[in-house]
Amino acid sequence: DQVMSSQEILKGKHVLIALGGTVAPIDPVRYIGNWSSGKMGWSIAQAALTMGAEVTVIAGRTDIHLEAQKRLMIQRVRTTQEMYEQIEKHFGQCDVLIMAAAVADFKPANVVQQKIKKDPHQTVLNLQLTPTVDILKKMGHRKNHQLVVGFAAETQDVLANAQQKLVNKGADMIVANDVSQTTTGFNADNNKVTILRPQQKPLAWPTATKHEIGQRLMKLIAEQLS
Ligand code: CTP
Ligand code: CA
Repeated sequence: DQVMSSQEILKGKHVLIALGGTVAPIDPVRYIGNWSSGKMGWSIAQAALTMGAEVTVIAGRTDIHLEAQKRLMIQRVRTTQEMYEQIEKHFGQCDVLIMAAAVADFKPANVVQQKIKKDPHQTVLNLQLTPTVDILKKMGHRKNHQLVVGFAAETQDVLANAQQKLVNKGADMIVANDVSQTTTGFNADNNKVTILRPQQKPLAWPTATKHEIGQRLMKLIAEQLS
């Protein structure tokens, strides 16, 4: 009957977190990106550190100034492929993977080596896109001992779509997030999420700061790990 303080509840555990947005280069000076701020993922990383974990952050584009510290390793990436390679590299050693990144789903089918010039007579520019690798799905189906956690960014039918992602990606947990609300979606300081897990009732959490949600989520994950 030993009570663990929250400071050591994740001691010896390795948490791998992907955050921020990945980009898809179009030509040497342009890219396709998204509005992810990285705030939610960074809050989760902070919570994990507070609870004593070893944390590896794979960071795409983010507004946050990231700095390595004790028990925190940071690896910057730009494209989805780069993020995938880094996640693959660290996956074997981690106890939990949290995909909090806004991963670019598509990339230009052909990246040109020279800047695309505008033609004054051209009214339409066609850009052909091809899907990127689904990192969460790959890892969800490759896991052995790891707990695999994903997010679901939805603008409609939030729970039904998130439930599909839980099953389809082989995840152990999906944090469903309605991004149609500007106060709780991308770039906001607050968030409102529902936690989905296989064979368990959804947990609908009240609106809270991303900091609070990060703590609550890491606590739930820690319970599930032990
Ligand atoms: N994800 C991923 N690799 C991708 C796309 C998404 O690992 N190529 C992860 C995200 O980090 C998130 C989860 O999958 O944890 C769900 O992302 P989301 O964008 O909500 O769903 P998608 O599966 O990409 O489907 P869609 O964008 O069409 O809703
Ligand atoms: Ca997506």
